[in-house]
This record gives sequence, structure tokens and C-alpha cells, in this order.
Amino acid sequence: MTRLSPLLQQATPVTVDHAAGSYIYGTDGRRYLDFTAGIGVTSTGHCHPHVVEAAQRQIGSLIHGQYTTVMHKPLLELTERLGAVLPEGLDSLFFANSGSEAVEAALRLARQATGRPNVIVFHGGFHGRTVAAASMTTSGTRFSAGFSPLMGGVHIAPFPNAYRYGWTEEQATDFALKELDYLFATVTSPAETAAFIVEPVLGEGGYVPGNTRFFQGLRERADRHGILLVFDEIQTGFGRTGKFFGHQHFDTRPDVITIAKGLASGFPLSGIAASEELMAKAWPGSQGGTYGANAVSCAAAVATLDVIEKEGLVENAAARGAELLAGARSRATDAVGDVRGLGLLVGSEFVTADGEPDRERAAAAQKLAASKGLLLLMCGAYMNVVRMIPPLIVTSDQIEDGLGIWSEVLDEV
Ligand SMILES: Cc1ncc(COP(=O)(O)O)c(C=O)c1O
Repeated sequence: MTRLSPLLQQATPVTVDHAAGSYIYGTDGRRYLDFTAGIGVTSTGHCHPHVVEAAQRQIGSLIHGQYTTVMHKPLLELTERLGAVLPEGLDSLFFANSGSEAVEAALRLARQATGRPNVIVFHGGFHGRTVAAASMTTSGTRFSAGFSPLMGGVHIAPFPNAYRYGWTEEQATDFALKELDYLFATVTSPAETAAFIVEPVLGEGGYVPGNTRFFQGLRERADRHGILLVFDEIQTGFGRTGKFFGHQHFDTRPDVITIAKGLASGFPLSGIAASEELMAKAWPGSQGGTYGANAVSCAAAVATLDVIEKEGLVENAAARGAELLAGARSRATDAVGDVRGLGLLVGSEFVTADGEPDRERAAAAQKLAASKGLLLLMCGAYMNVVRMIPPLIVTSDQIEDGLGIWSEVLDEV
């Protein structure tokens, strides 16, 4: 009998029968409140009727319009529609399928446009599983161990992770920027550095938001040295943080952003946005792929933009996110050392009485929550952070329901 690889592990025991809105209905006959959103993907909720209708309509007219062979209408429409939401000046787009591919496209662009070999990533960042993306990932060795040699030219600077260092945000930011300058003096000279690649909020790394002074420090150094600032918005984009893009909380201009996940409500679609001037510096033929910008994915993305706008999902993410963060904070017990996040990205970090990462208790909490009908995920270098990522359509009542279950879990675990 053929089976799935044992290496492909599931965070929950649920087999989905069907799903709608904020709920997954299991083949076990149970209903689960889905605070995982397919790792931040199904932001319009499962099977939003407008997205379903757009995708079904598109399937009947064109499924695969290979985009280095022909152009197709959903791709042109999506490109135009994104103009209304992209950061100013980022008016040129390339599309692929997965987040990792988008990160690699940004890397290729940065190296080709600057003619420089190195990139700087920030400790705790997650950028994907393909070899180049895994080489830039420092949120856990599980993503990069055992298949070295990894790609060269990647250097790691600290992220201002105040809780981890036991410092204030000011101290952590001073440290991070000082170490970055030290890296320039000792490891990769600015003249050999093509880009900073950074998440506005560390995702897999434990739901740690960055801060304005840190990101503006990167911007200032990028401008001074001709380095590109790439924000990886794959998890933080499309309203997830309570602004359209995560970096917009920090008043810092990007040169490139990567997008995926919430872009197409579950259909595979990713991309990068940059200025046309920058895009034009990459080498001809360096962008493409068989499946990029699938017509059904593009139609679903256009419908997703409609829903985000019509239903005020960015505003809802900000309001419901504030409720979720406050609720998770007020319910935290001694087992939880820190509760943090931005918008509808909220993480609770489990620690022992000595302040050490408590992976076992975090895992027990996540498992218990699933048994009580609330689906959650883990993250963090030590896998001791339980994260909540509800869809952006989540209601106040659903936030209350989720927090009610979470309270029971914390009391029992
Ligand atoms: C910030 C970030 N970058 C890149 C990726 C990689 O995306 P994918 O898994 O689609 O390759 C992810 C996925 O979780 C992510 O959160």
C-alpha cells in the first residue's frame, strides 16, 4: 500500500471534510475553529463565496495560460489591481507560485541589479525551504540541516528580539544596529552587500515584531551604501497585521517586497514587487517558470482584493487583532513568559519556572486546544511559541470563543 512520506507531519489529527469561513469540518463529524488559516493563507476565510465563484468561472474559460508563452486577462487584471495597494514606487511585478520562489526571485534581482554577491538576513528569519531560501532561513536548523552545502554569500545579523535577550526594545535595537555595522566592518563589506532581506514580524521565528528605529536604521544604511531593502511580506502582507503590508507600521520604504499566502485565498500564487527601474536591471530571461501566475490563482487573487476592500478586512484585522492580543495577554499564566504580535498574528511563548523554553508544555497546549476544537500552530526556534493566525474575516464572537478555549487549555496544561 502506498503511503505519504513519514517526514510530512501534521500539526493536528484533523482530516478535513469541508471548510467554510473560520471553521473546518472534520471527517470525524466535529467542527473546529481554525486559528491557523492554512499558515496565514486563507485570509478571506475558507471558500469565500466570491472567491469560489471567481475561480469556478475562470476554470471554465482558461486554467493554464503559460505566461512566458501567452498573456492572459486575470494576470493583466491582477497586475493593474495591485497598483492600488502596493507601496508607492513599487510598480513592477513578477509572479511565481510559492513563497520560497518569490524569495529566490528577490535574491536573483538583488544580486543581478547590484552586481554584488552577499545578502544580510536577520536572526530568526524564515524565508522558505528551497535551497537558496533555506540558506537565508535562521529560524531553526530543522529547515537547513542535513543537506549542506547551502548557498554561500549569506550573512546573519541580529534581529531586535527584546524578549530573547532580556532587554528593552531600545537596548535590543541598539545592539542589532551596532552588530550590523560590525558585520560590515568584519565580514561583508557594504560594497559587496546586495540586500537586506527581513520580515516585518518574525513569523516561524516566534511572532516577534520589528520596530521603527530598527527598520529605519536598515533603510539609512541601505541608502548610504546602495544596498536594497527587501521586506519579506509573505506572511505579513494583505492585511494580516492590520495594515495592508506589515512594513507600513514602521514608516520605512522598501525597495522590493515579496508576496504570497493571503494574496489568493489558498490558490498557489506568489510574487515580488519593485520599481520598474530596478526590475529592468535584472538579466533578461531570469524571471519565468512553467506554472507562475496560474489563471485561476490570478482570478482568485482579484476576488480576494475585492473581498479585502468590500468587507474592510484590513480594519477588521487591526480591531480583532487588538482583541486577540489583549485577550491572550490577560489569560496568560506563569507558564507563558511573553505574549506578543501585530494584528492577527499573536504568539504565546511557553517557558519553565527558570525561564527556559518549554517546548513540551507548548506542544501539550496546542494538542489540547485541537482536542477542544481550536486549531493552532507552533513556532519559534525552540518550538515553544503557540501562534494564533485567524482568518481576517474572524468576528469578535469567534475571537471570544477561541480565547475561551485557550483559557481552559492554559488552566489544564
Ligand atoms: C515570511 C515567509 N517567507 C517565505 C515563506 C516560504 O513560503 P512557501 O512555504 O510558500 O515556500 C514563508 C512561509 O511560511 C514565510 O512565512
